[in-house]
Amino acid sequence: MVEHLQRYGVISSKKVAEVMETVDRALFVPDGNPPYLDSPMGIGYNATISAPHMHATCFQLLEENLQPGMRALDVGSGTGYLTACFALMVGPQGRTVGVEHIPELVASSIQNIEKVQLHHYGRLGWPEAAPYDAIHVGAAAPEIPPALIEQLKPGGRMVIPVGNIFQDLKVVDKNSDGSISVRSETSVRYVPLTSRDAQLRNE
Ligand SMILES: C[S@@+](CC[C@H](N)C(=O)[O-])C[C@H]1O[C@@H](n2cnc3c(N)ncnc32)[C@H](O)[C@@H]1O
Repeated sequence: MVEHLQRYGVISSKKVAEVMETVDRALFVPDGNPPYLDSPMGIGYNATISAPHMHATCFQLLEENLQPGMRALDVGSGTGYLTACFALMVGPQGRTVGVEHIPELVASSIQNIEKVQLHHYGRLGWPEAAPYDAIHVGAAAPEIPPALIEQLKPGGRMVIPVGNIFQDLKVVDKNSDGSISVRSETSVRYVPLTSRDAQLRNE
């Protein structure tokens, strides 16, 4: 899988390739699914594990902000796959927090990984461990949530899908003076960052 993503130019970073090799996706994909296929897969509760190329793209955009000792937040952590990758990056001196609003997914992701901290919580992030050097949001928000910008450290970066039917993967940098720069990386299609009830009703 990683070799394929390297061959097609999705992964250019050696470190990202190494970590994605280490965190075996087969441990995170529900039984009976082809774990290394480059496609999103249902994980129940109207949620998906994102496709490997999307994980790799977001991971690589955040790589500089996932150095040893740094702090990372994964909003909509689902299976915990990227949360585990971030934890390996920041190492024992760093801190990685995952937030996910479906308690059953939190429970199964905790079984998937041991090292990272996962909280049953929602789209407002996890202010207790802020500020973060890196924030990844795994579901599409209608706009960039101010609460997450607030939790970003100056010099920090957030990668977040934004939009409803048409979505862009936005790269949000908080500059050292606290101002914000936003650019669009690519068009994407994610499930919405929503309320738990709306998600379970599949709205
Ligand atoms: C496309 S899935 C990605 C999951 C994860 N990144 C992965 O690849 O395993 C989006 C996740 O965001 C979660 N989610 C949606 N809205 C949320 C909210 N308001 N707060 C927390 N999690 C949310 C969903 O339950 C789902 O697990």
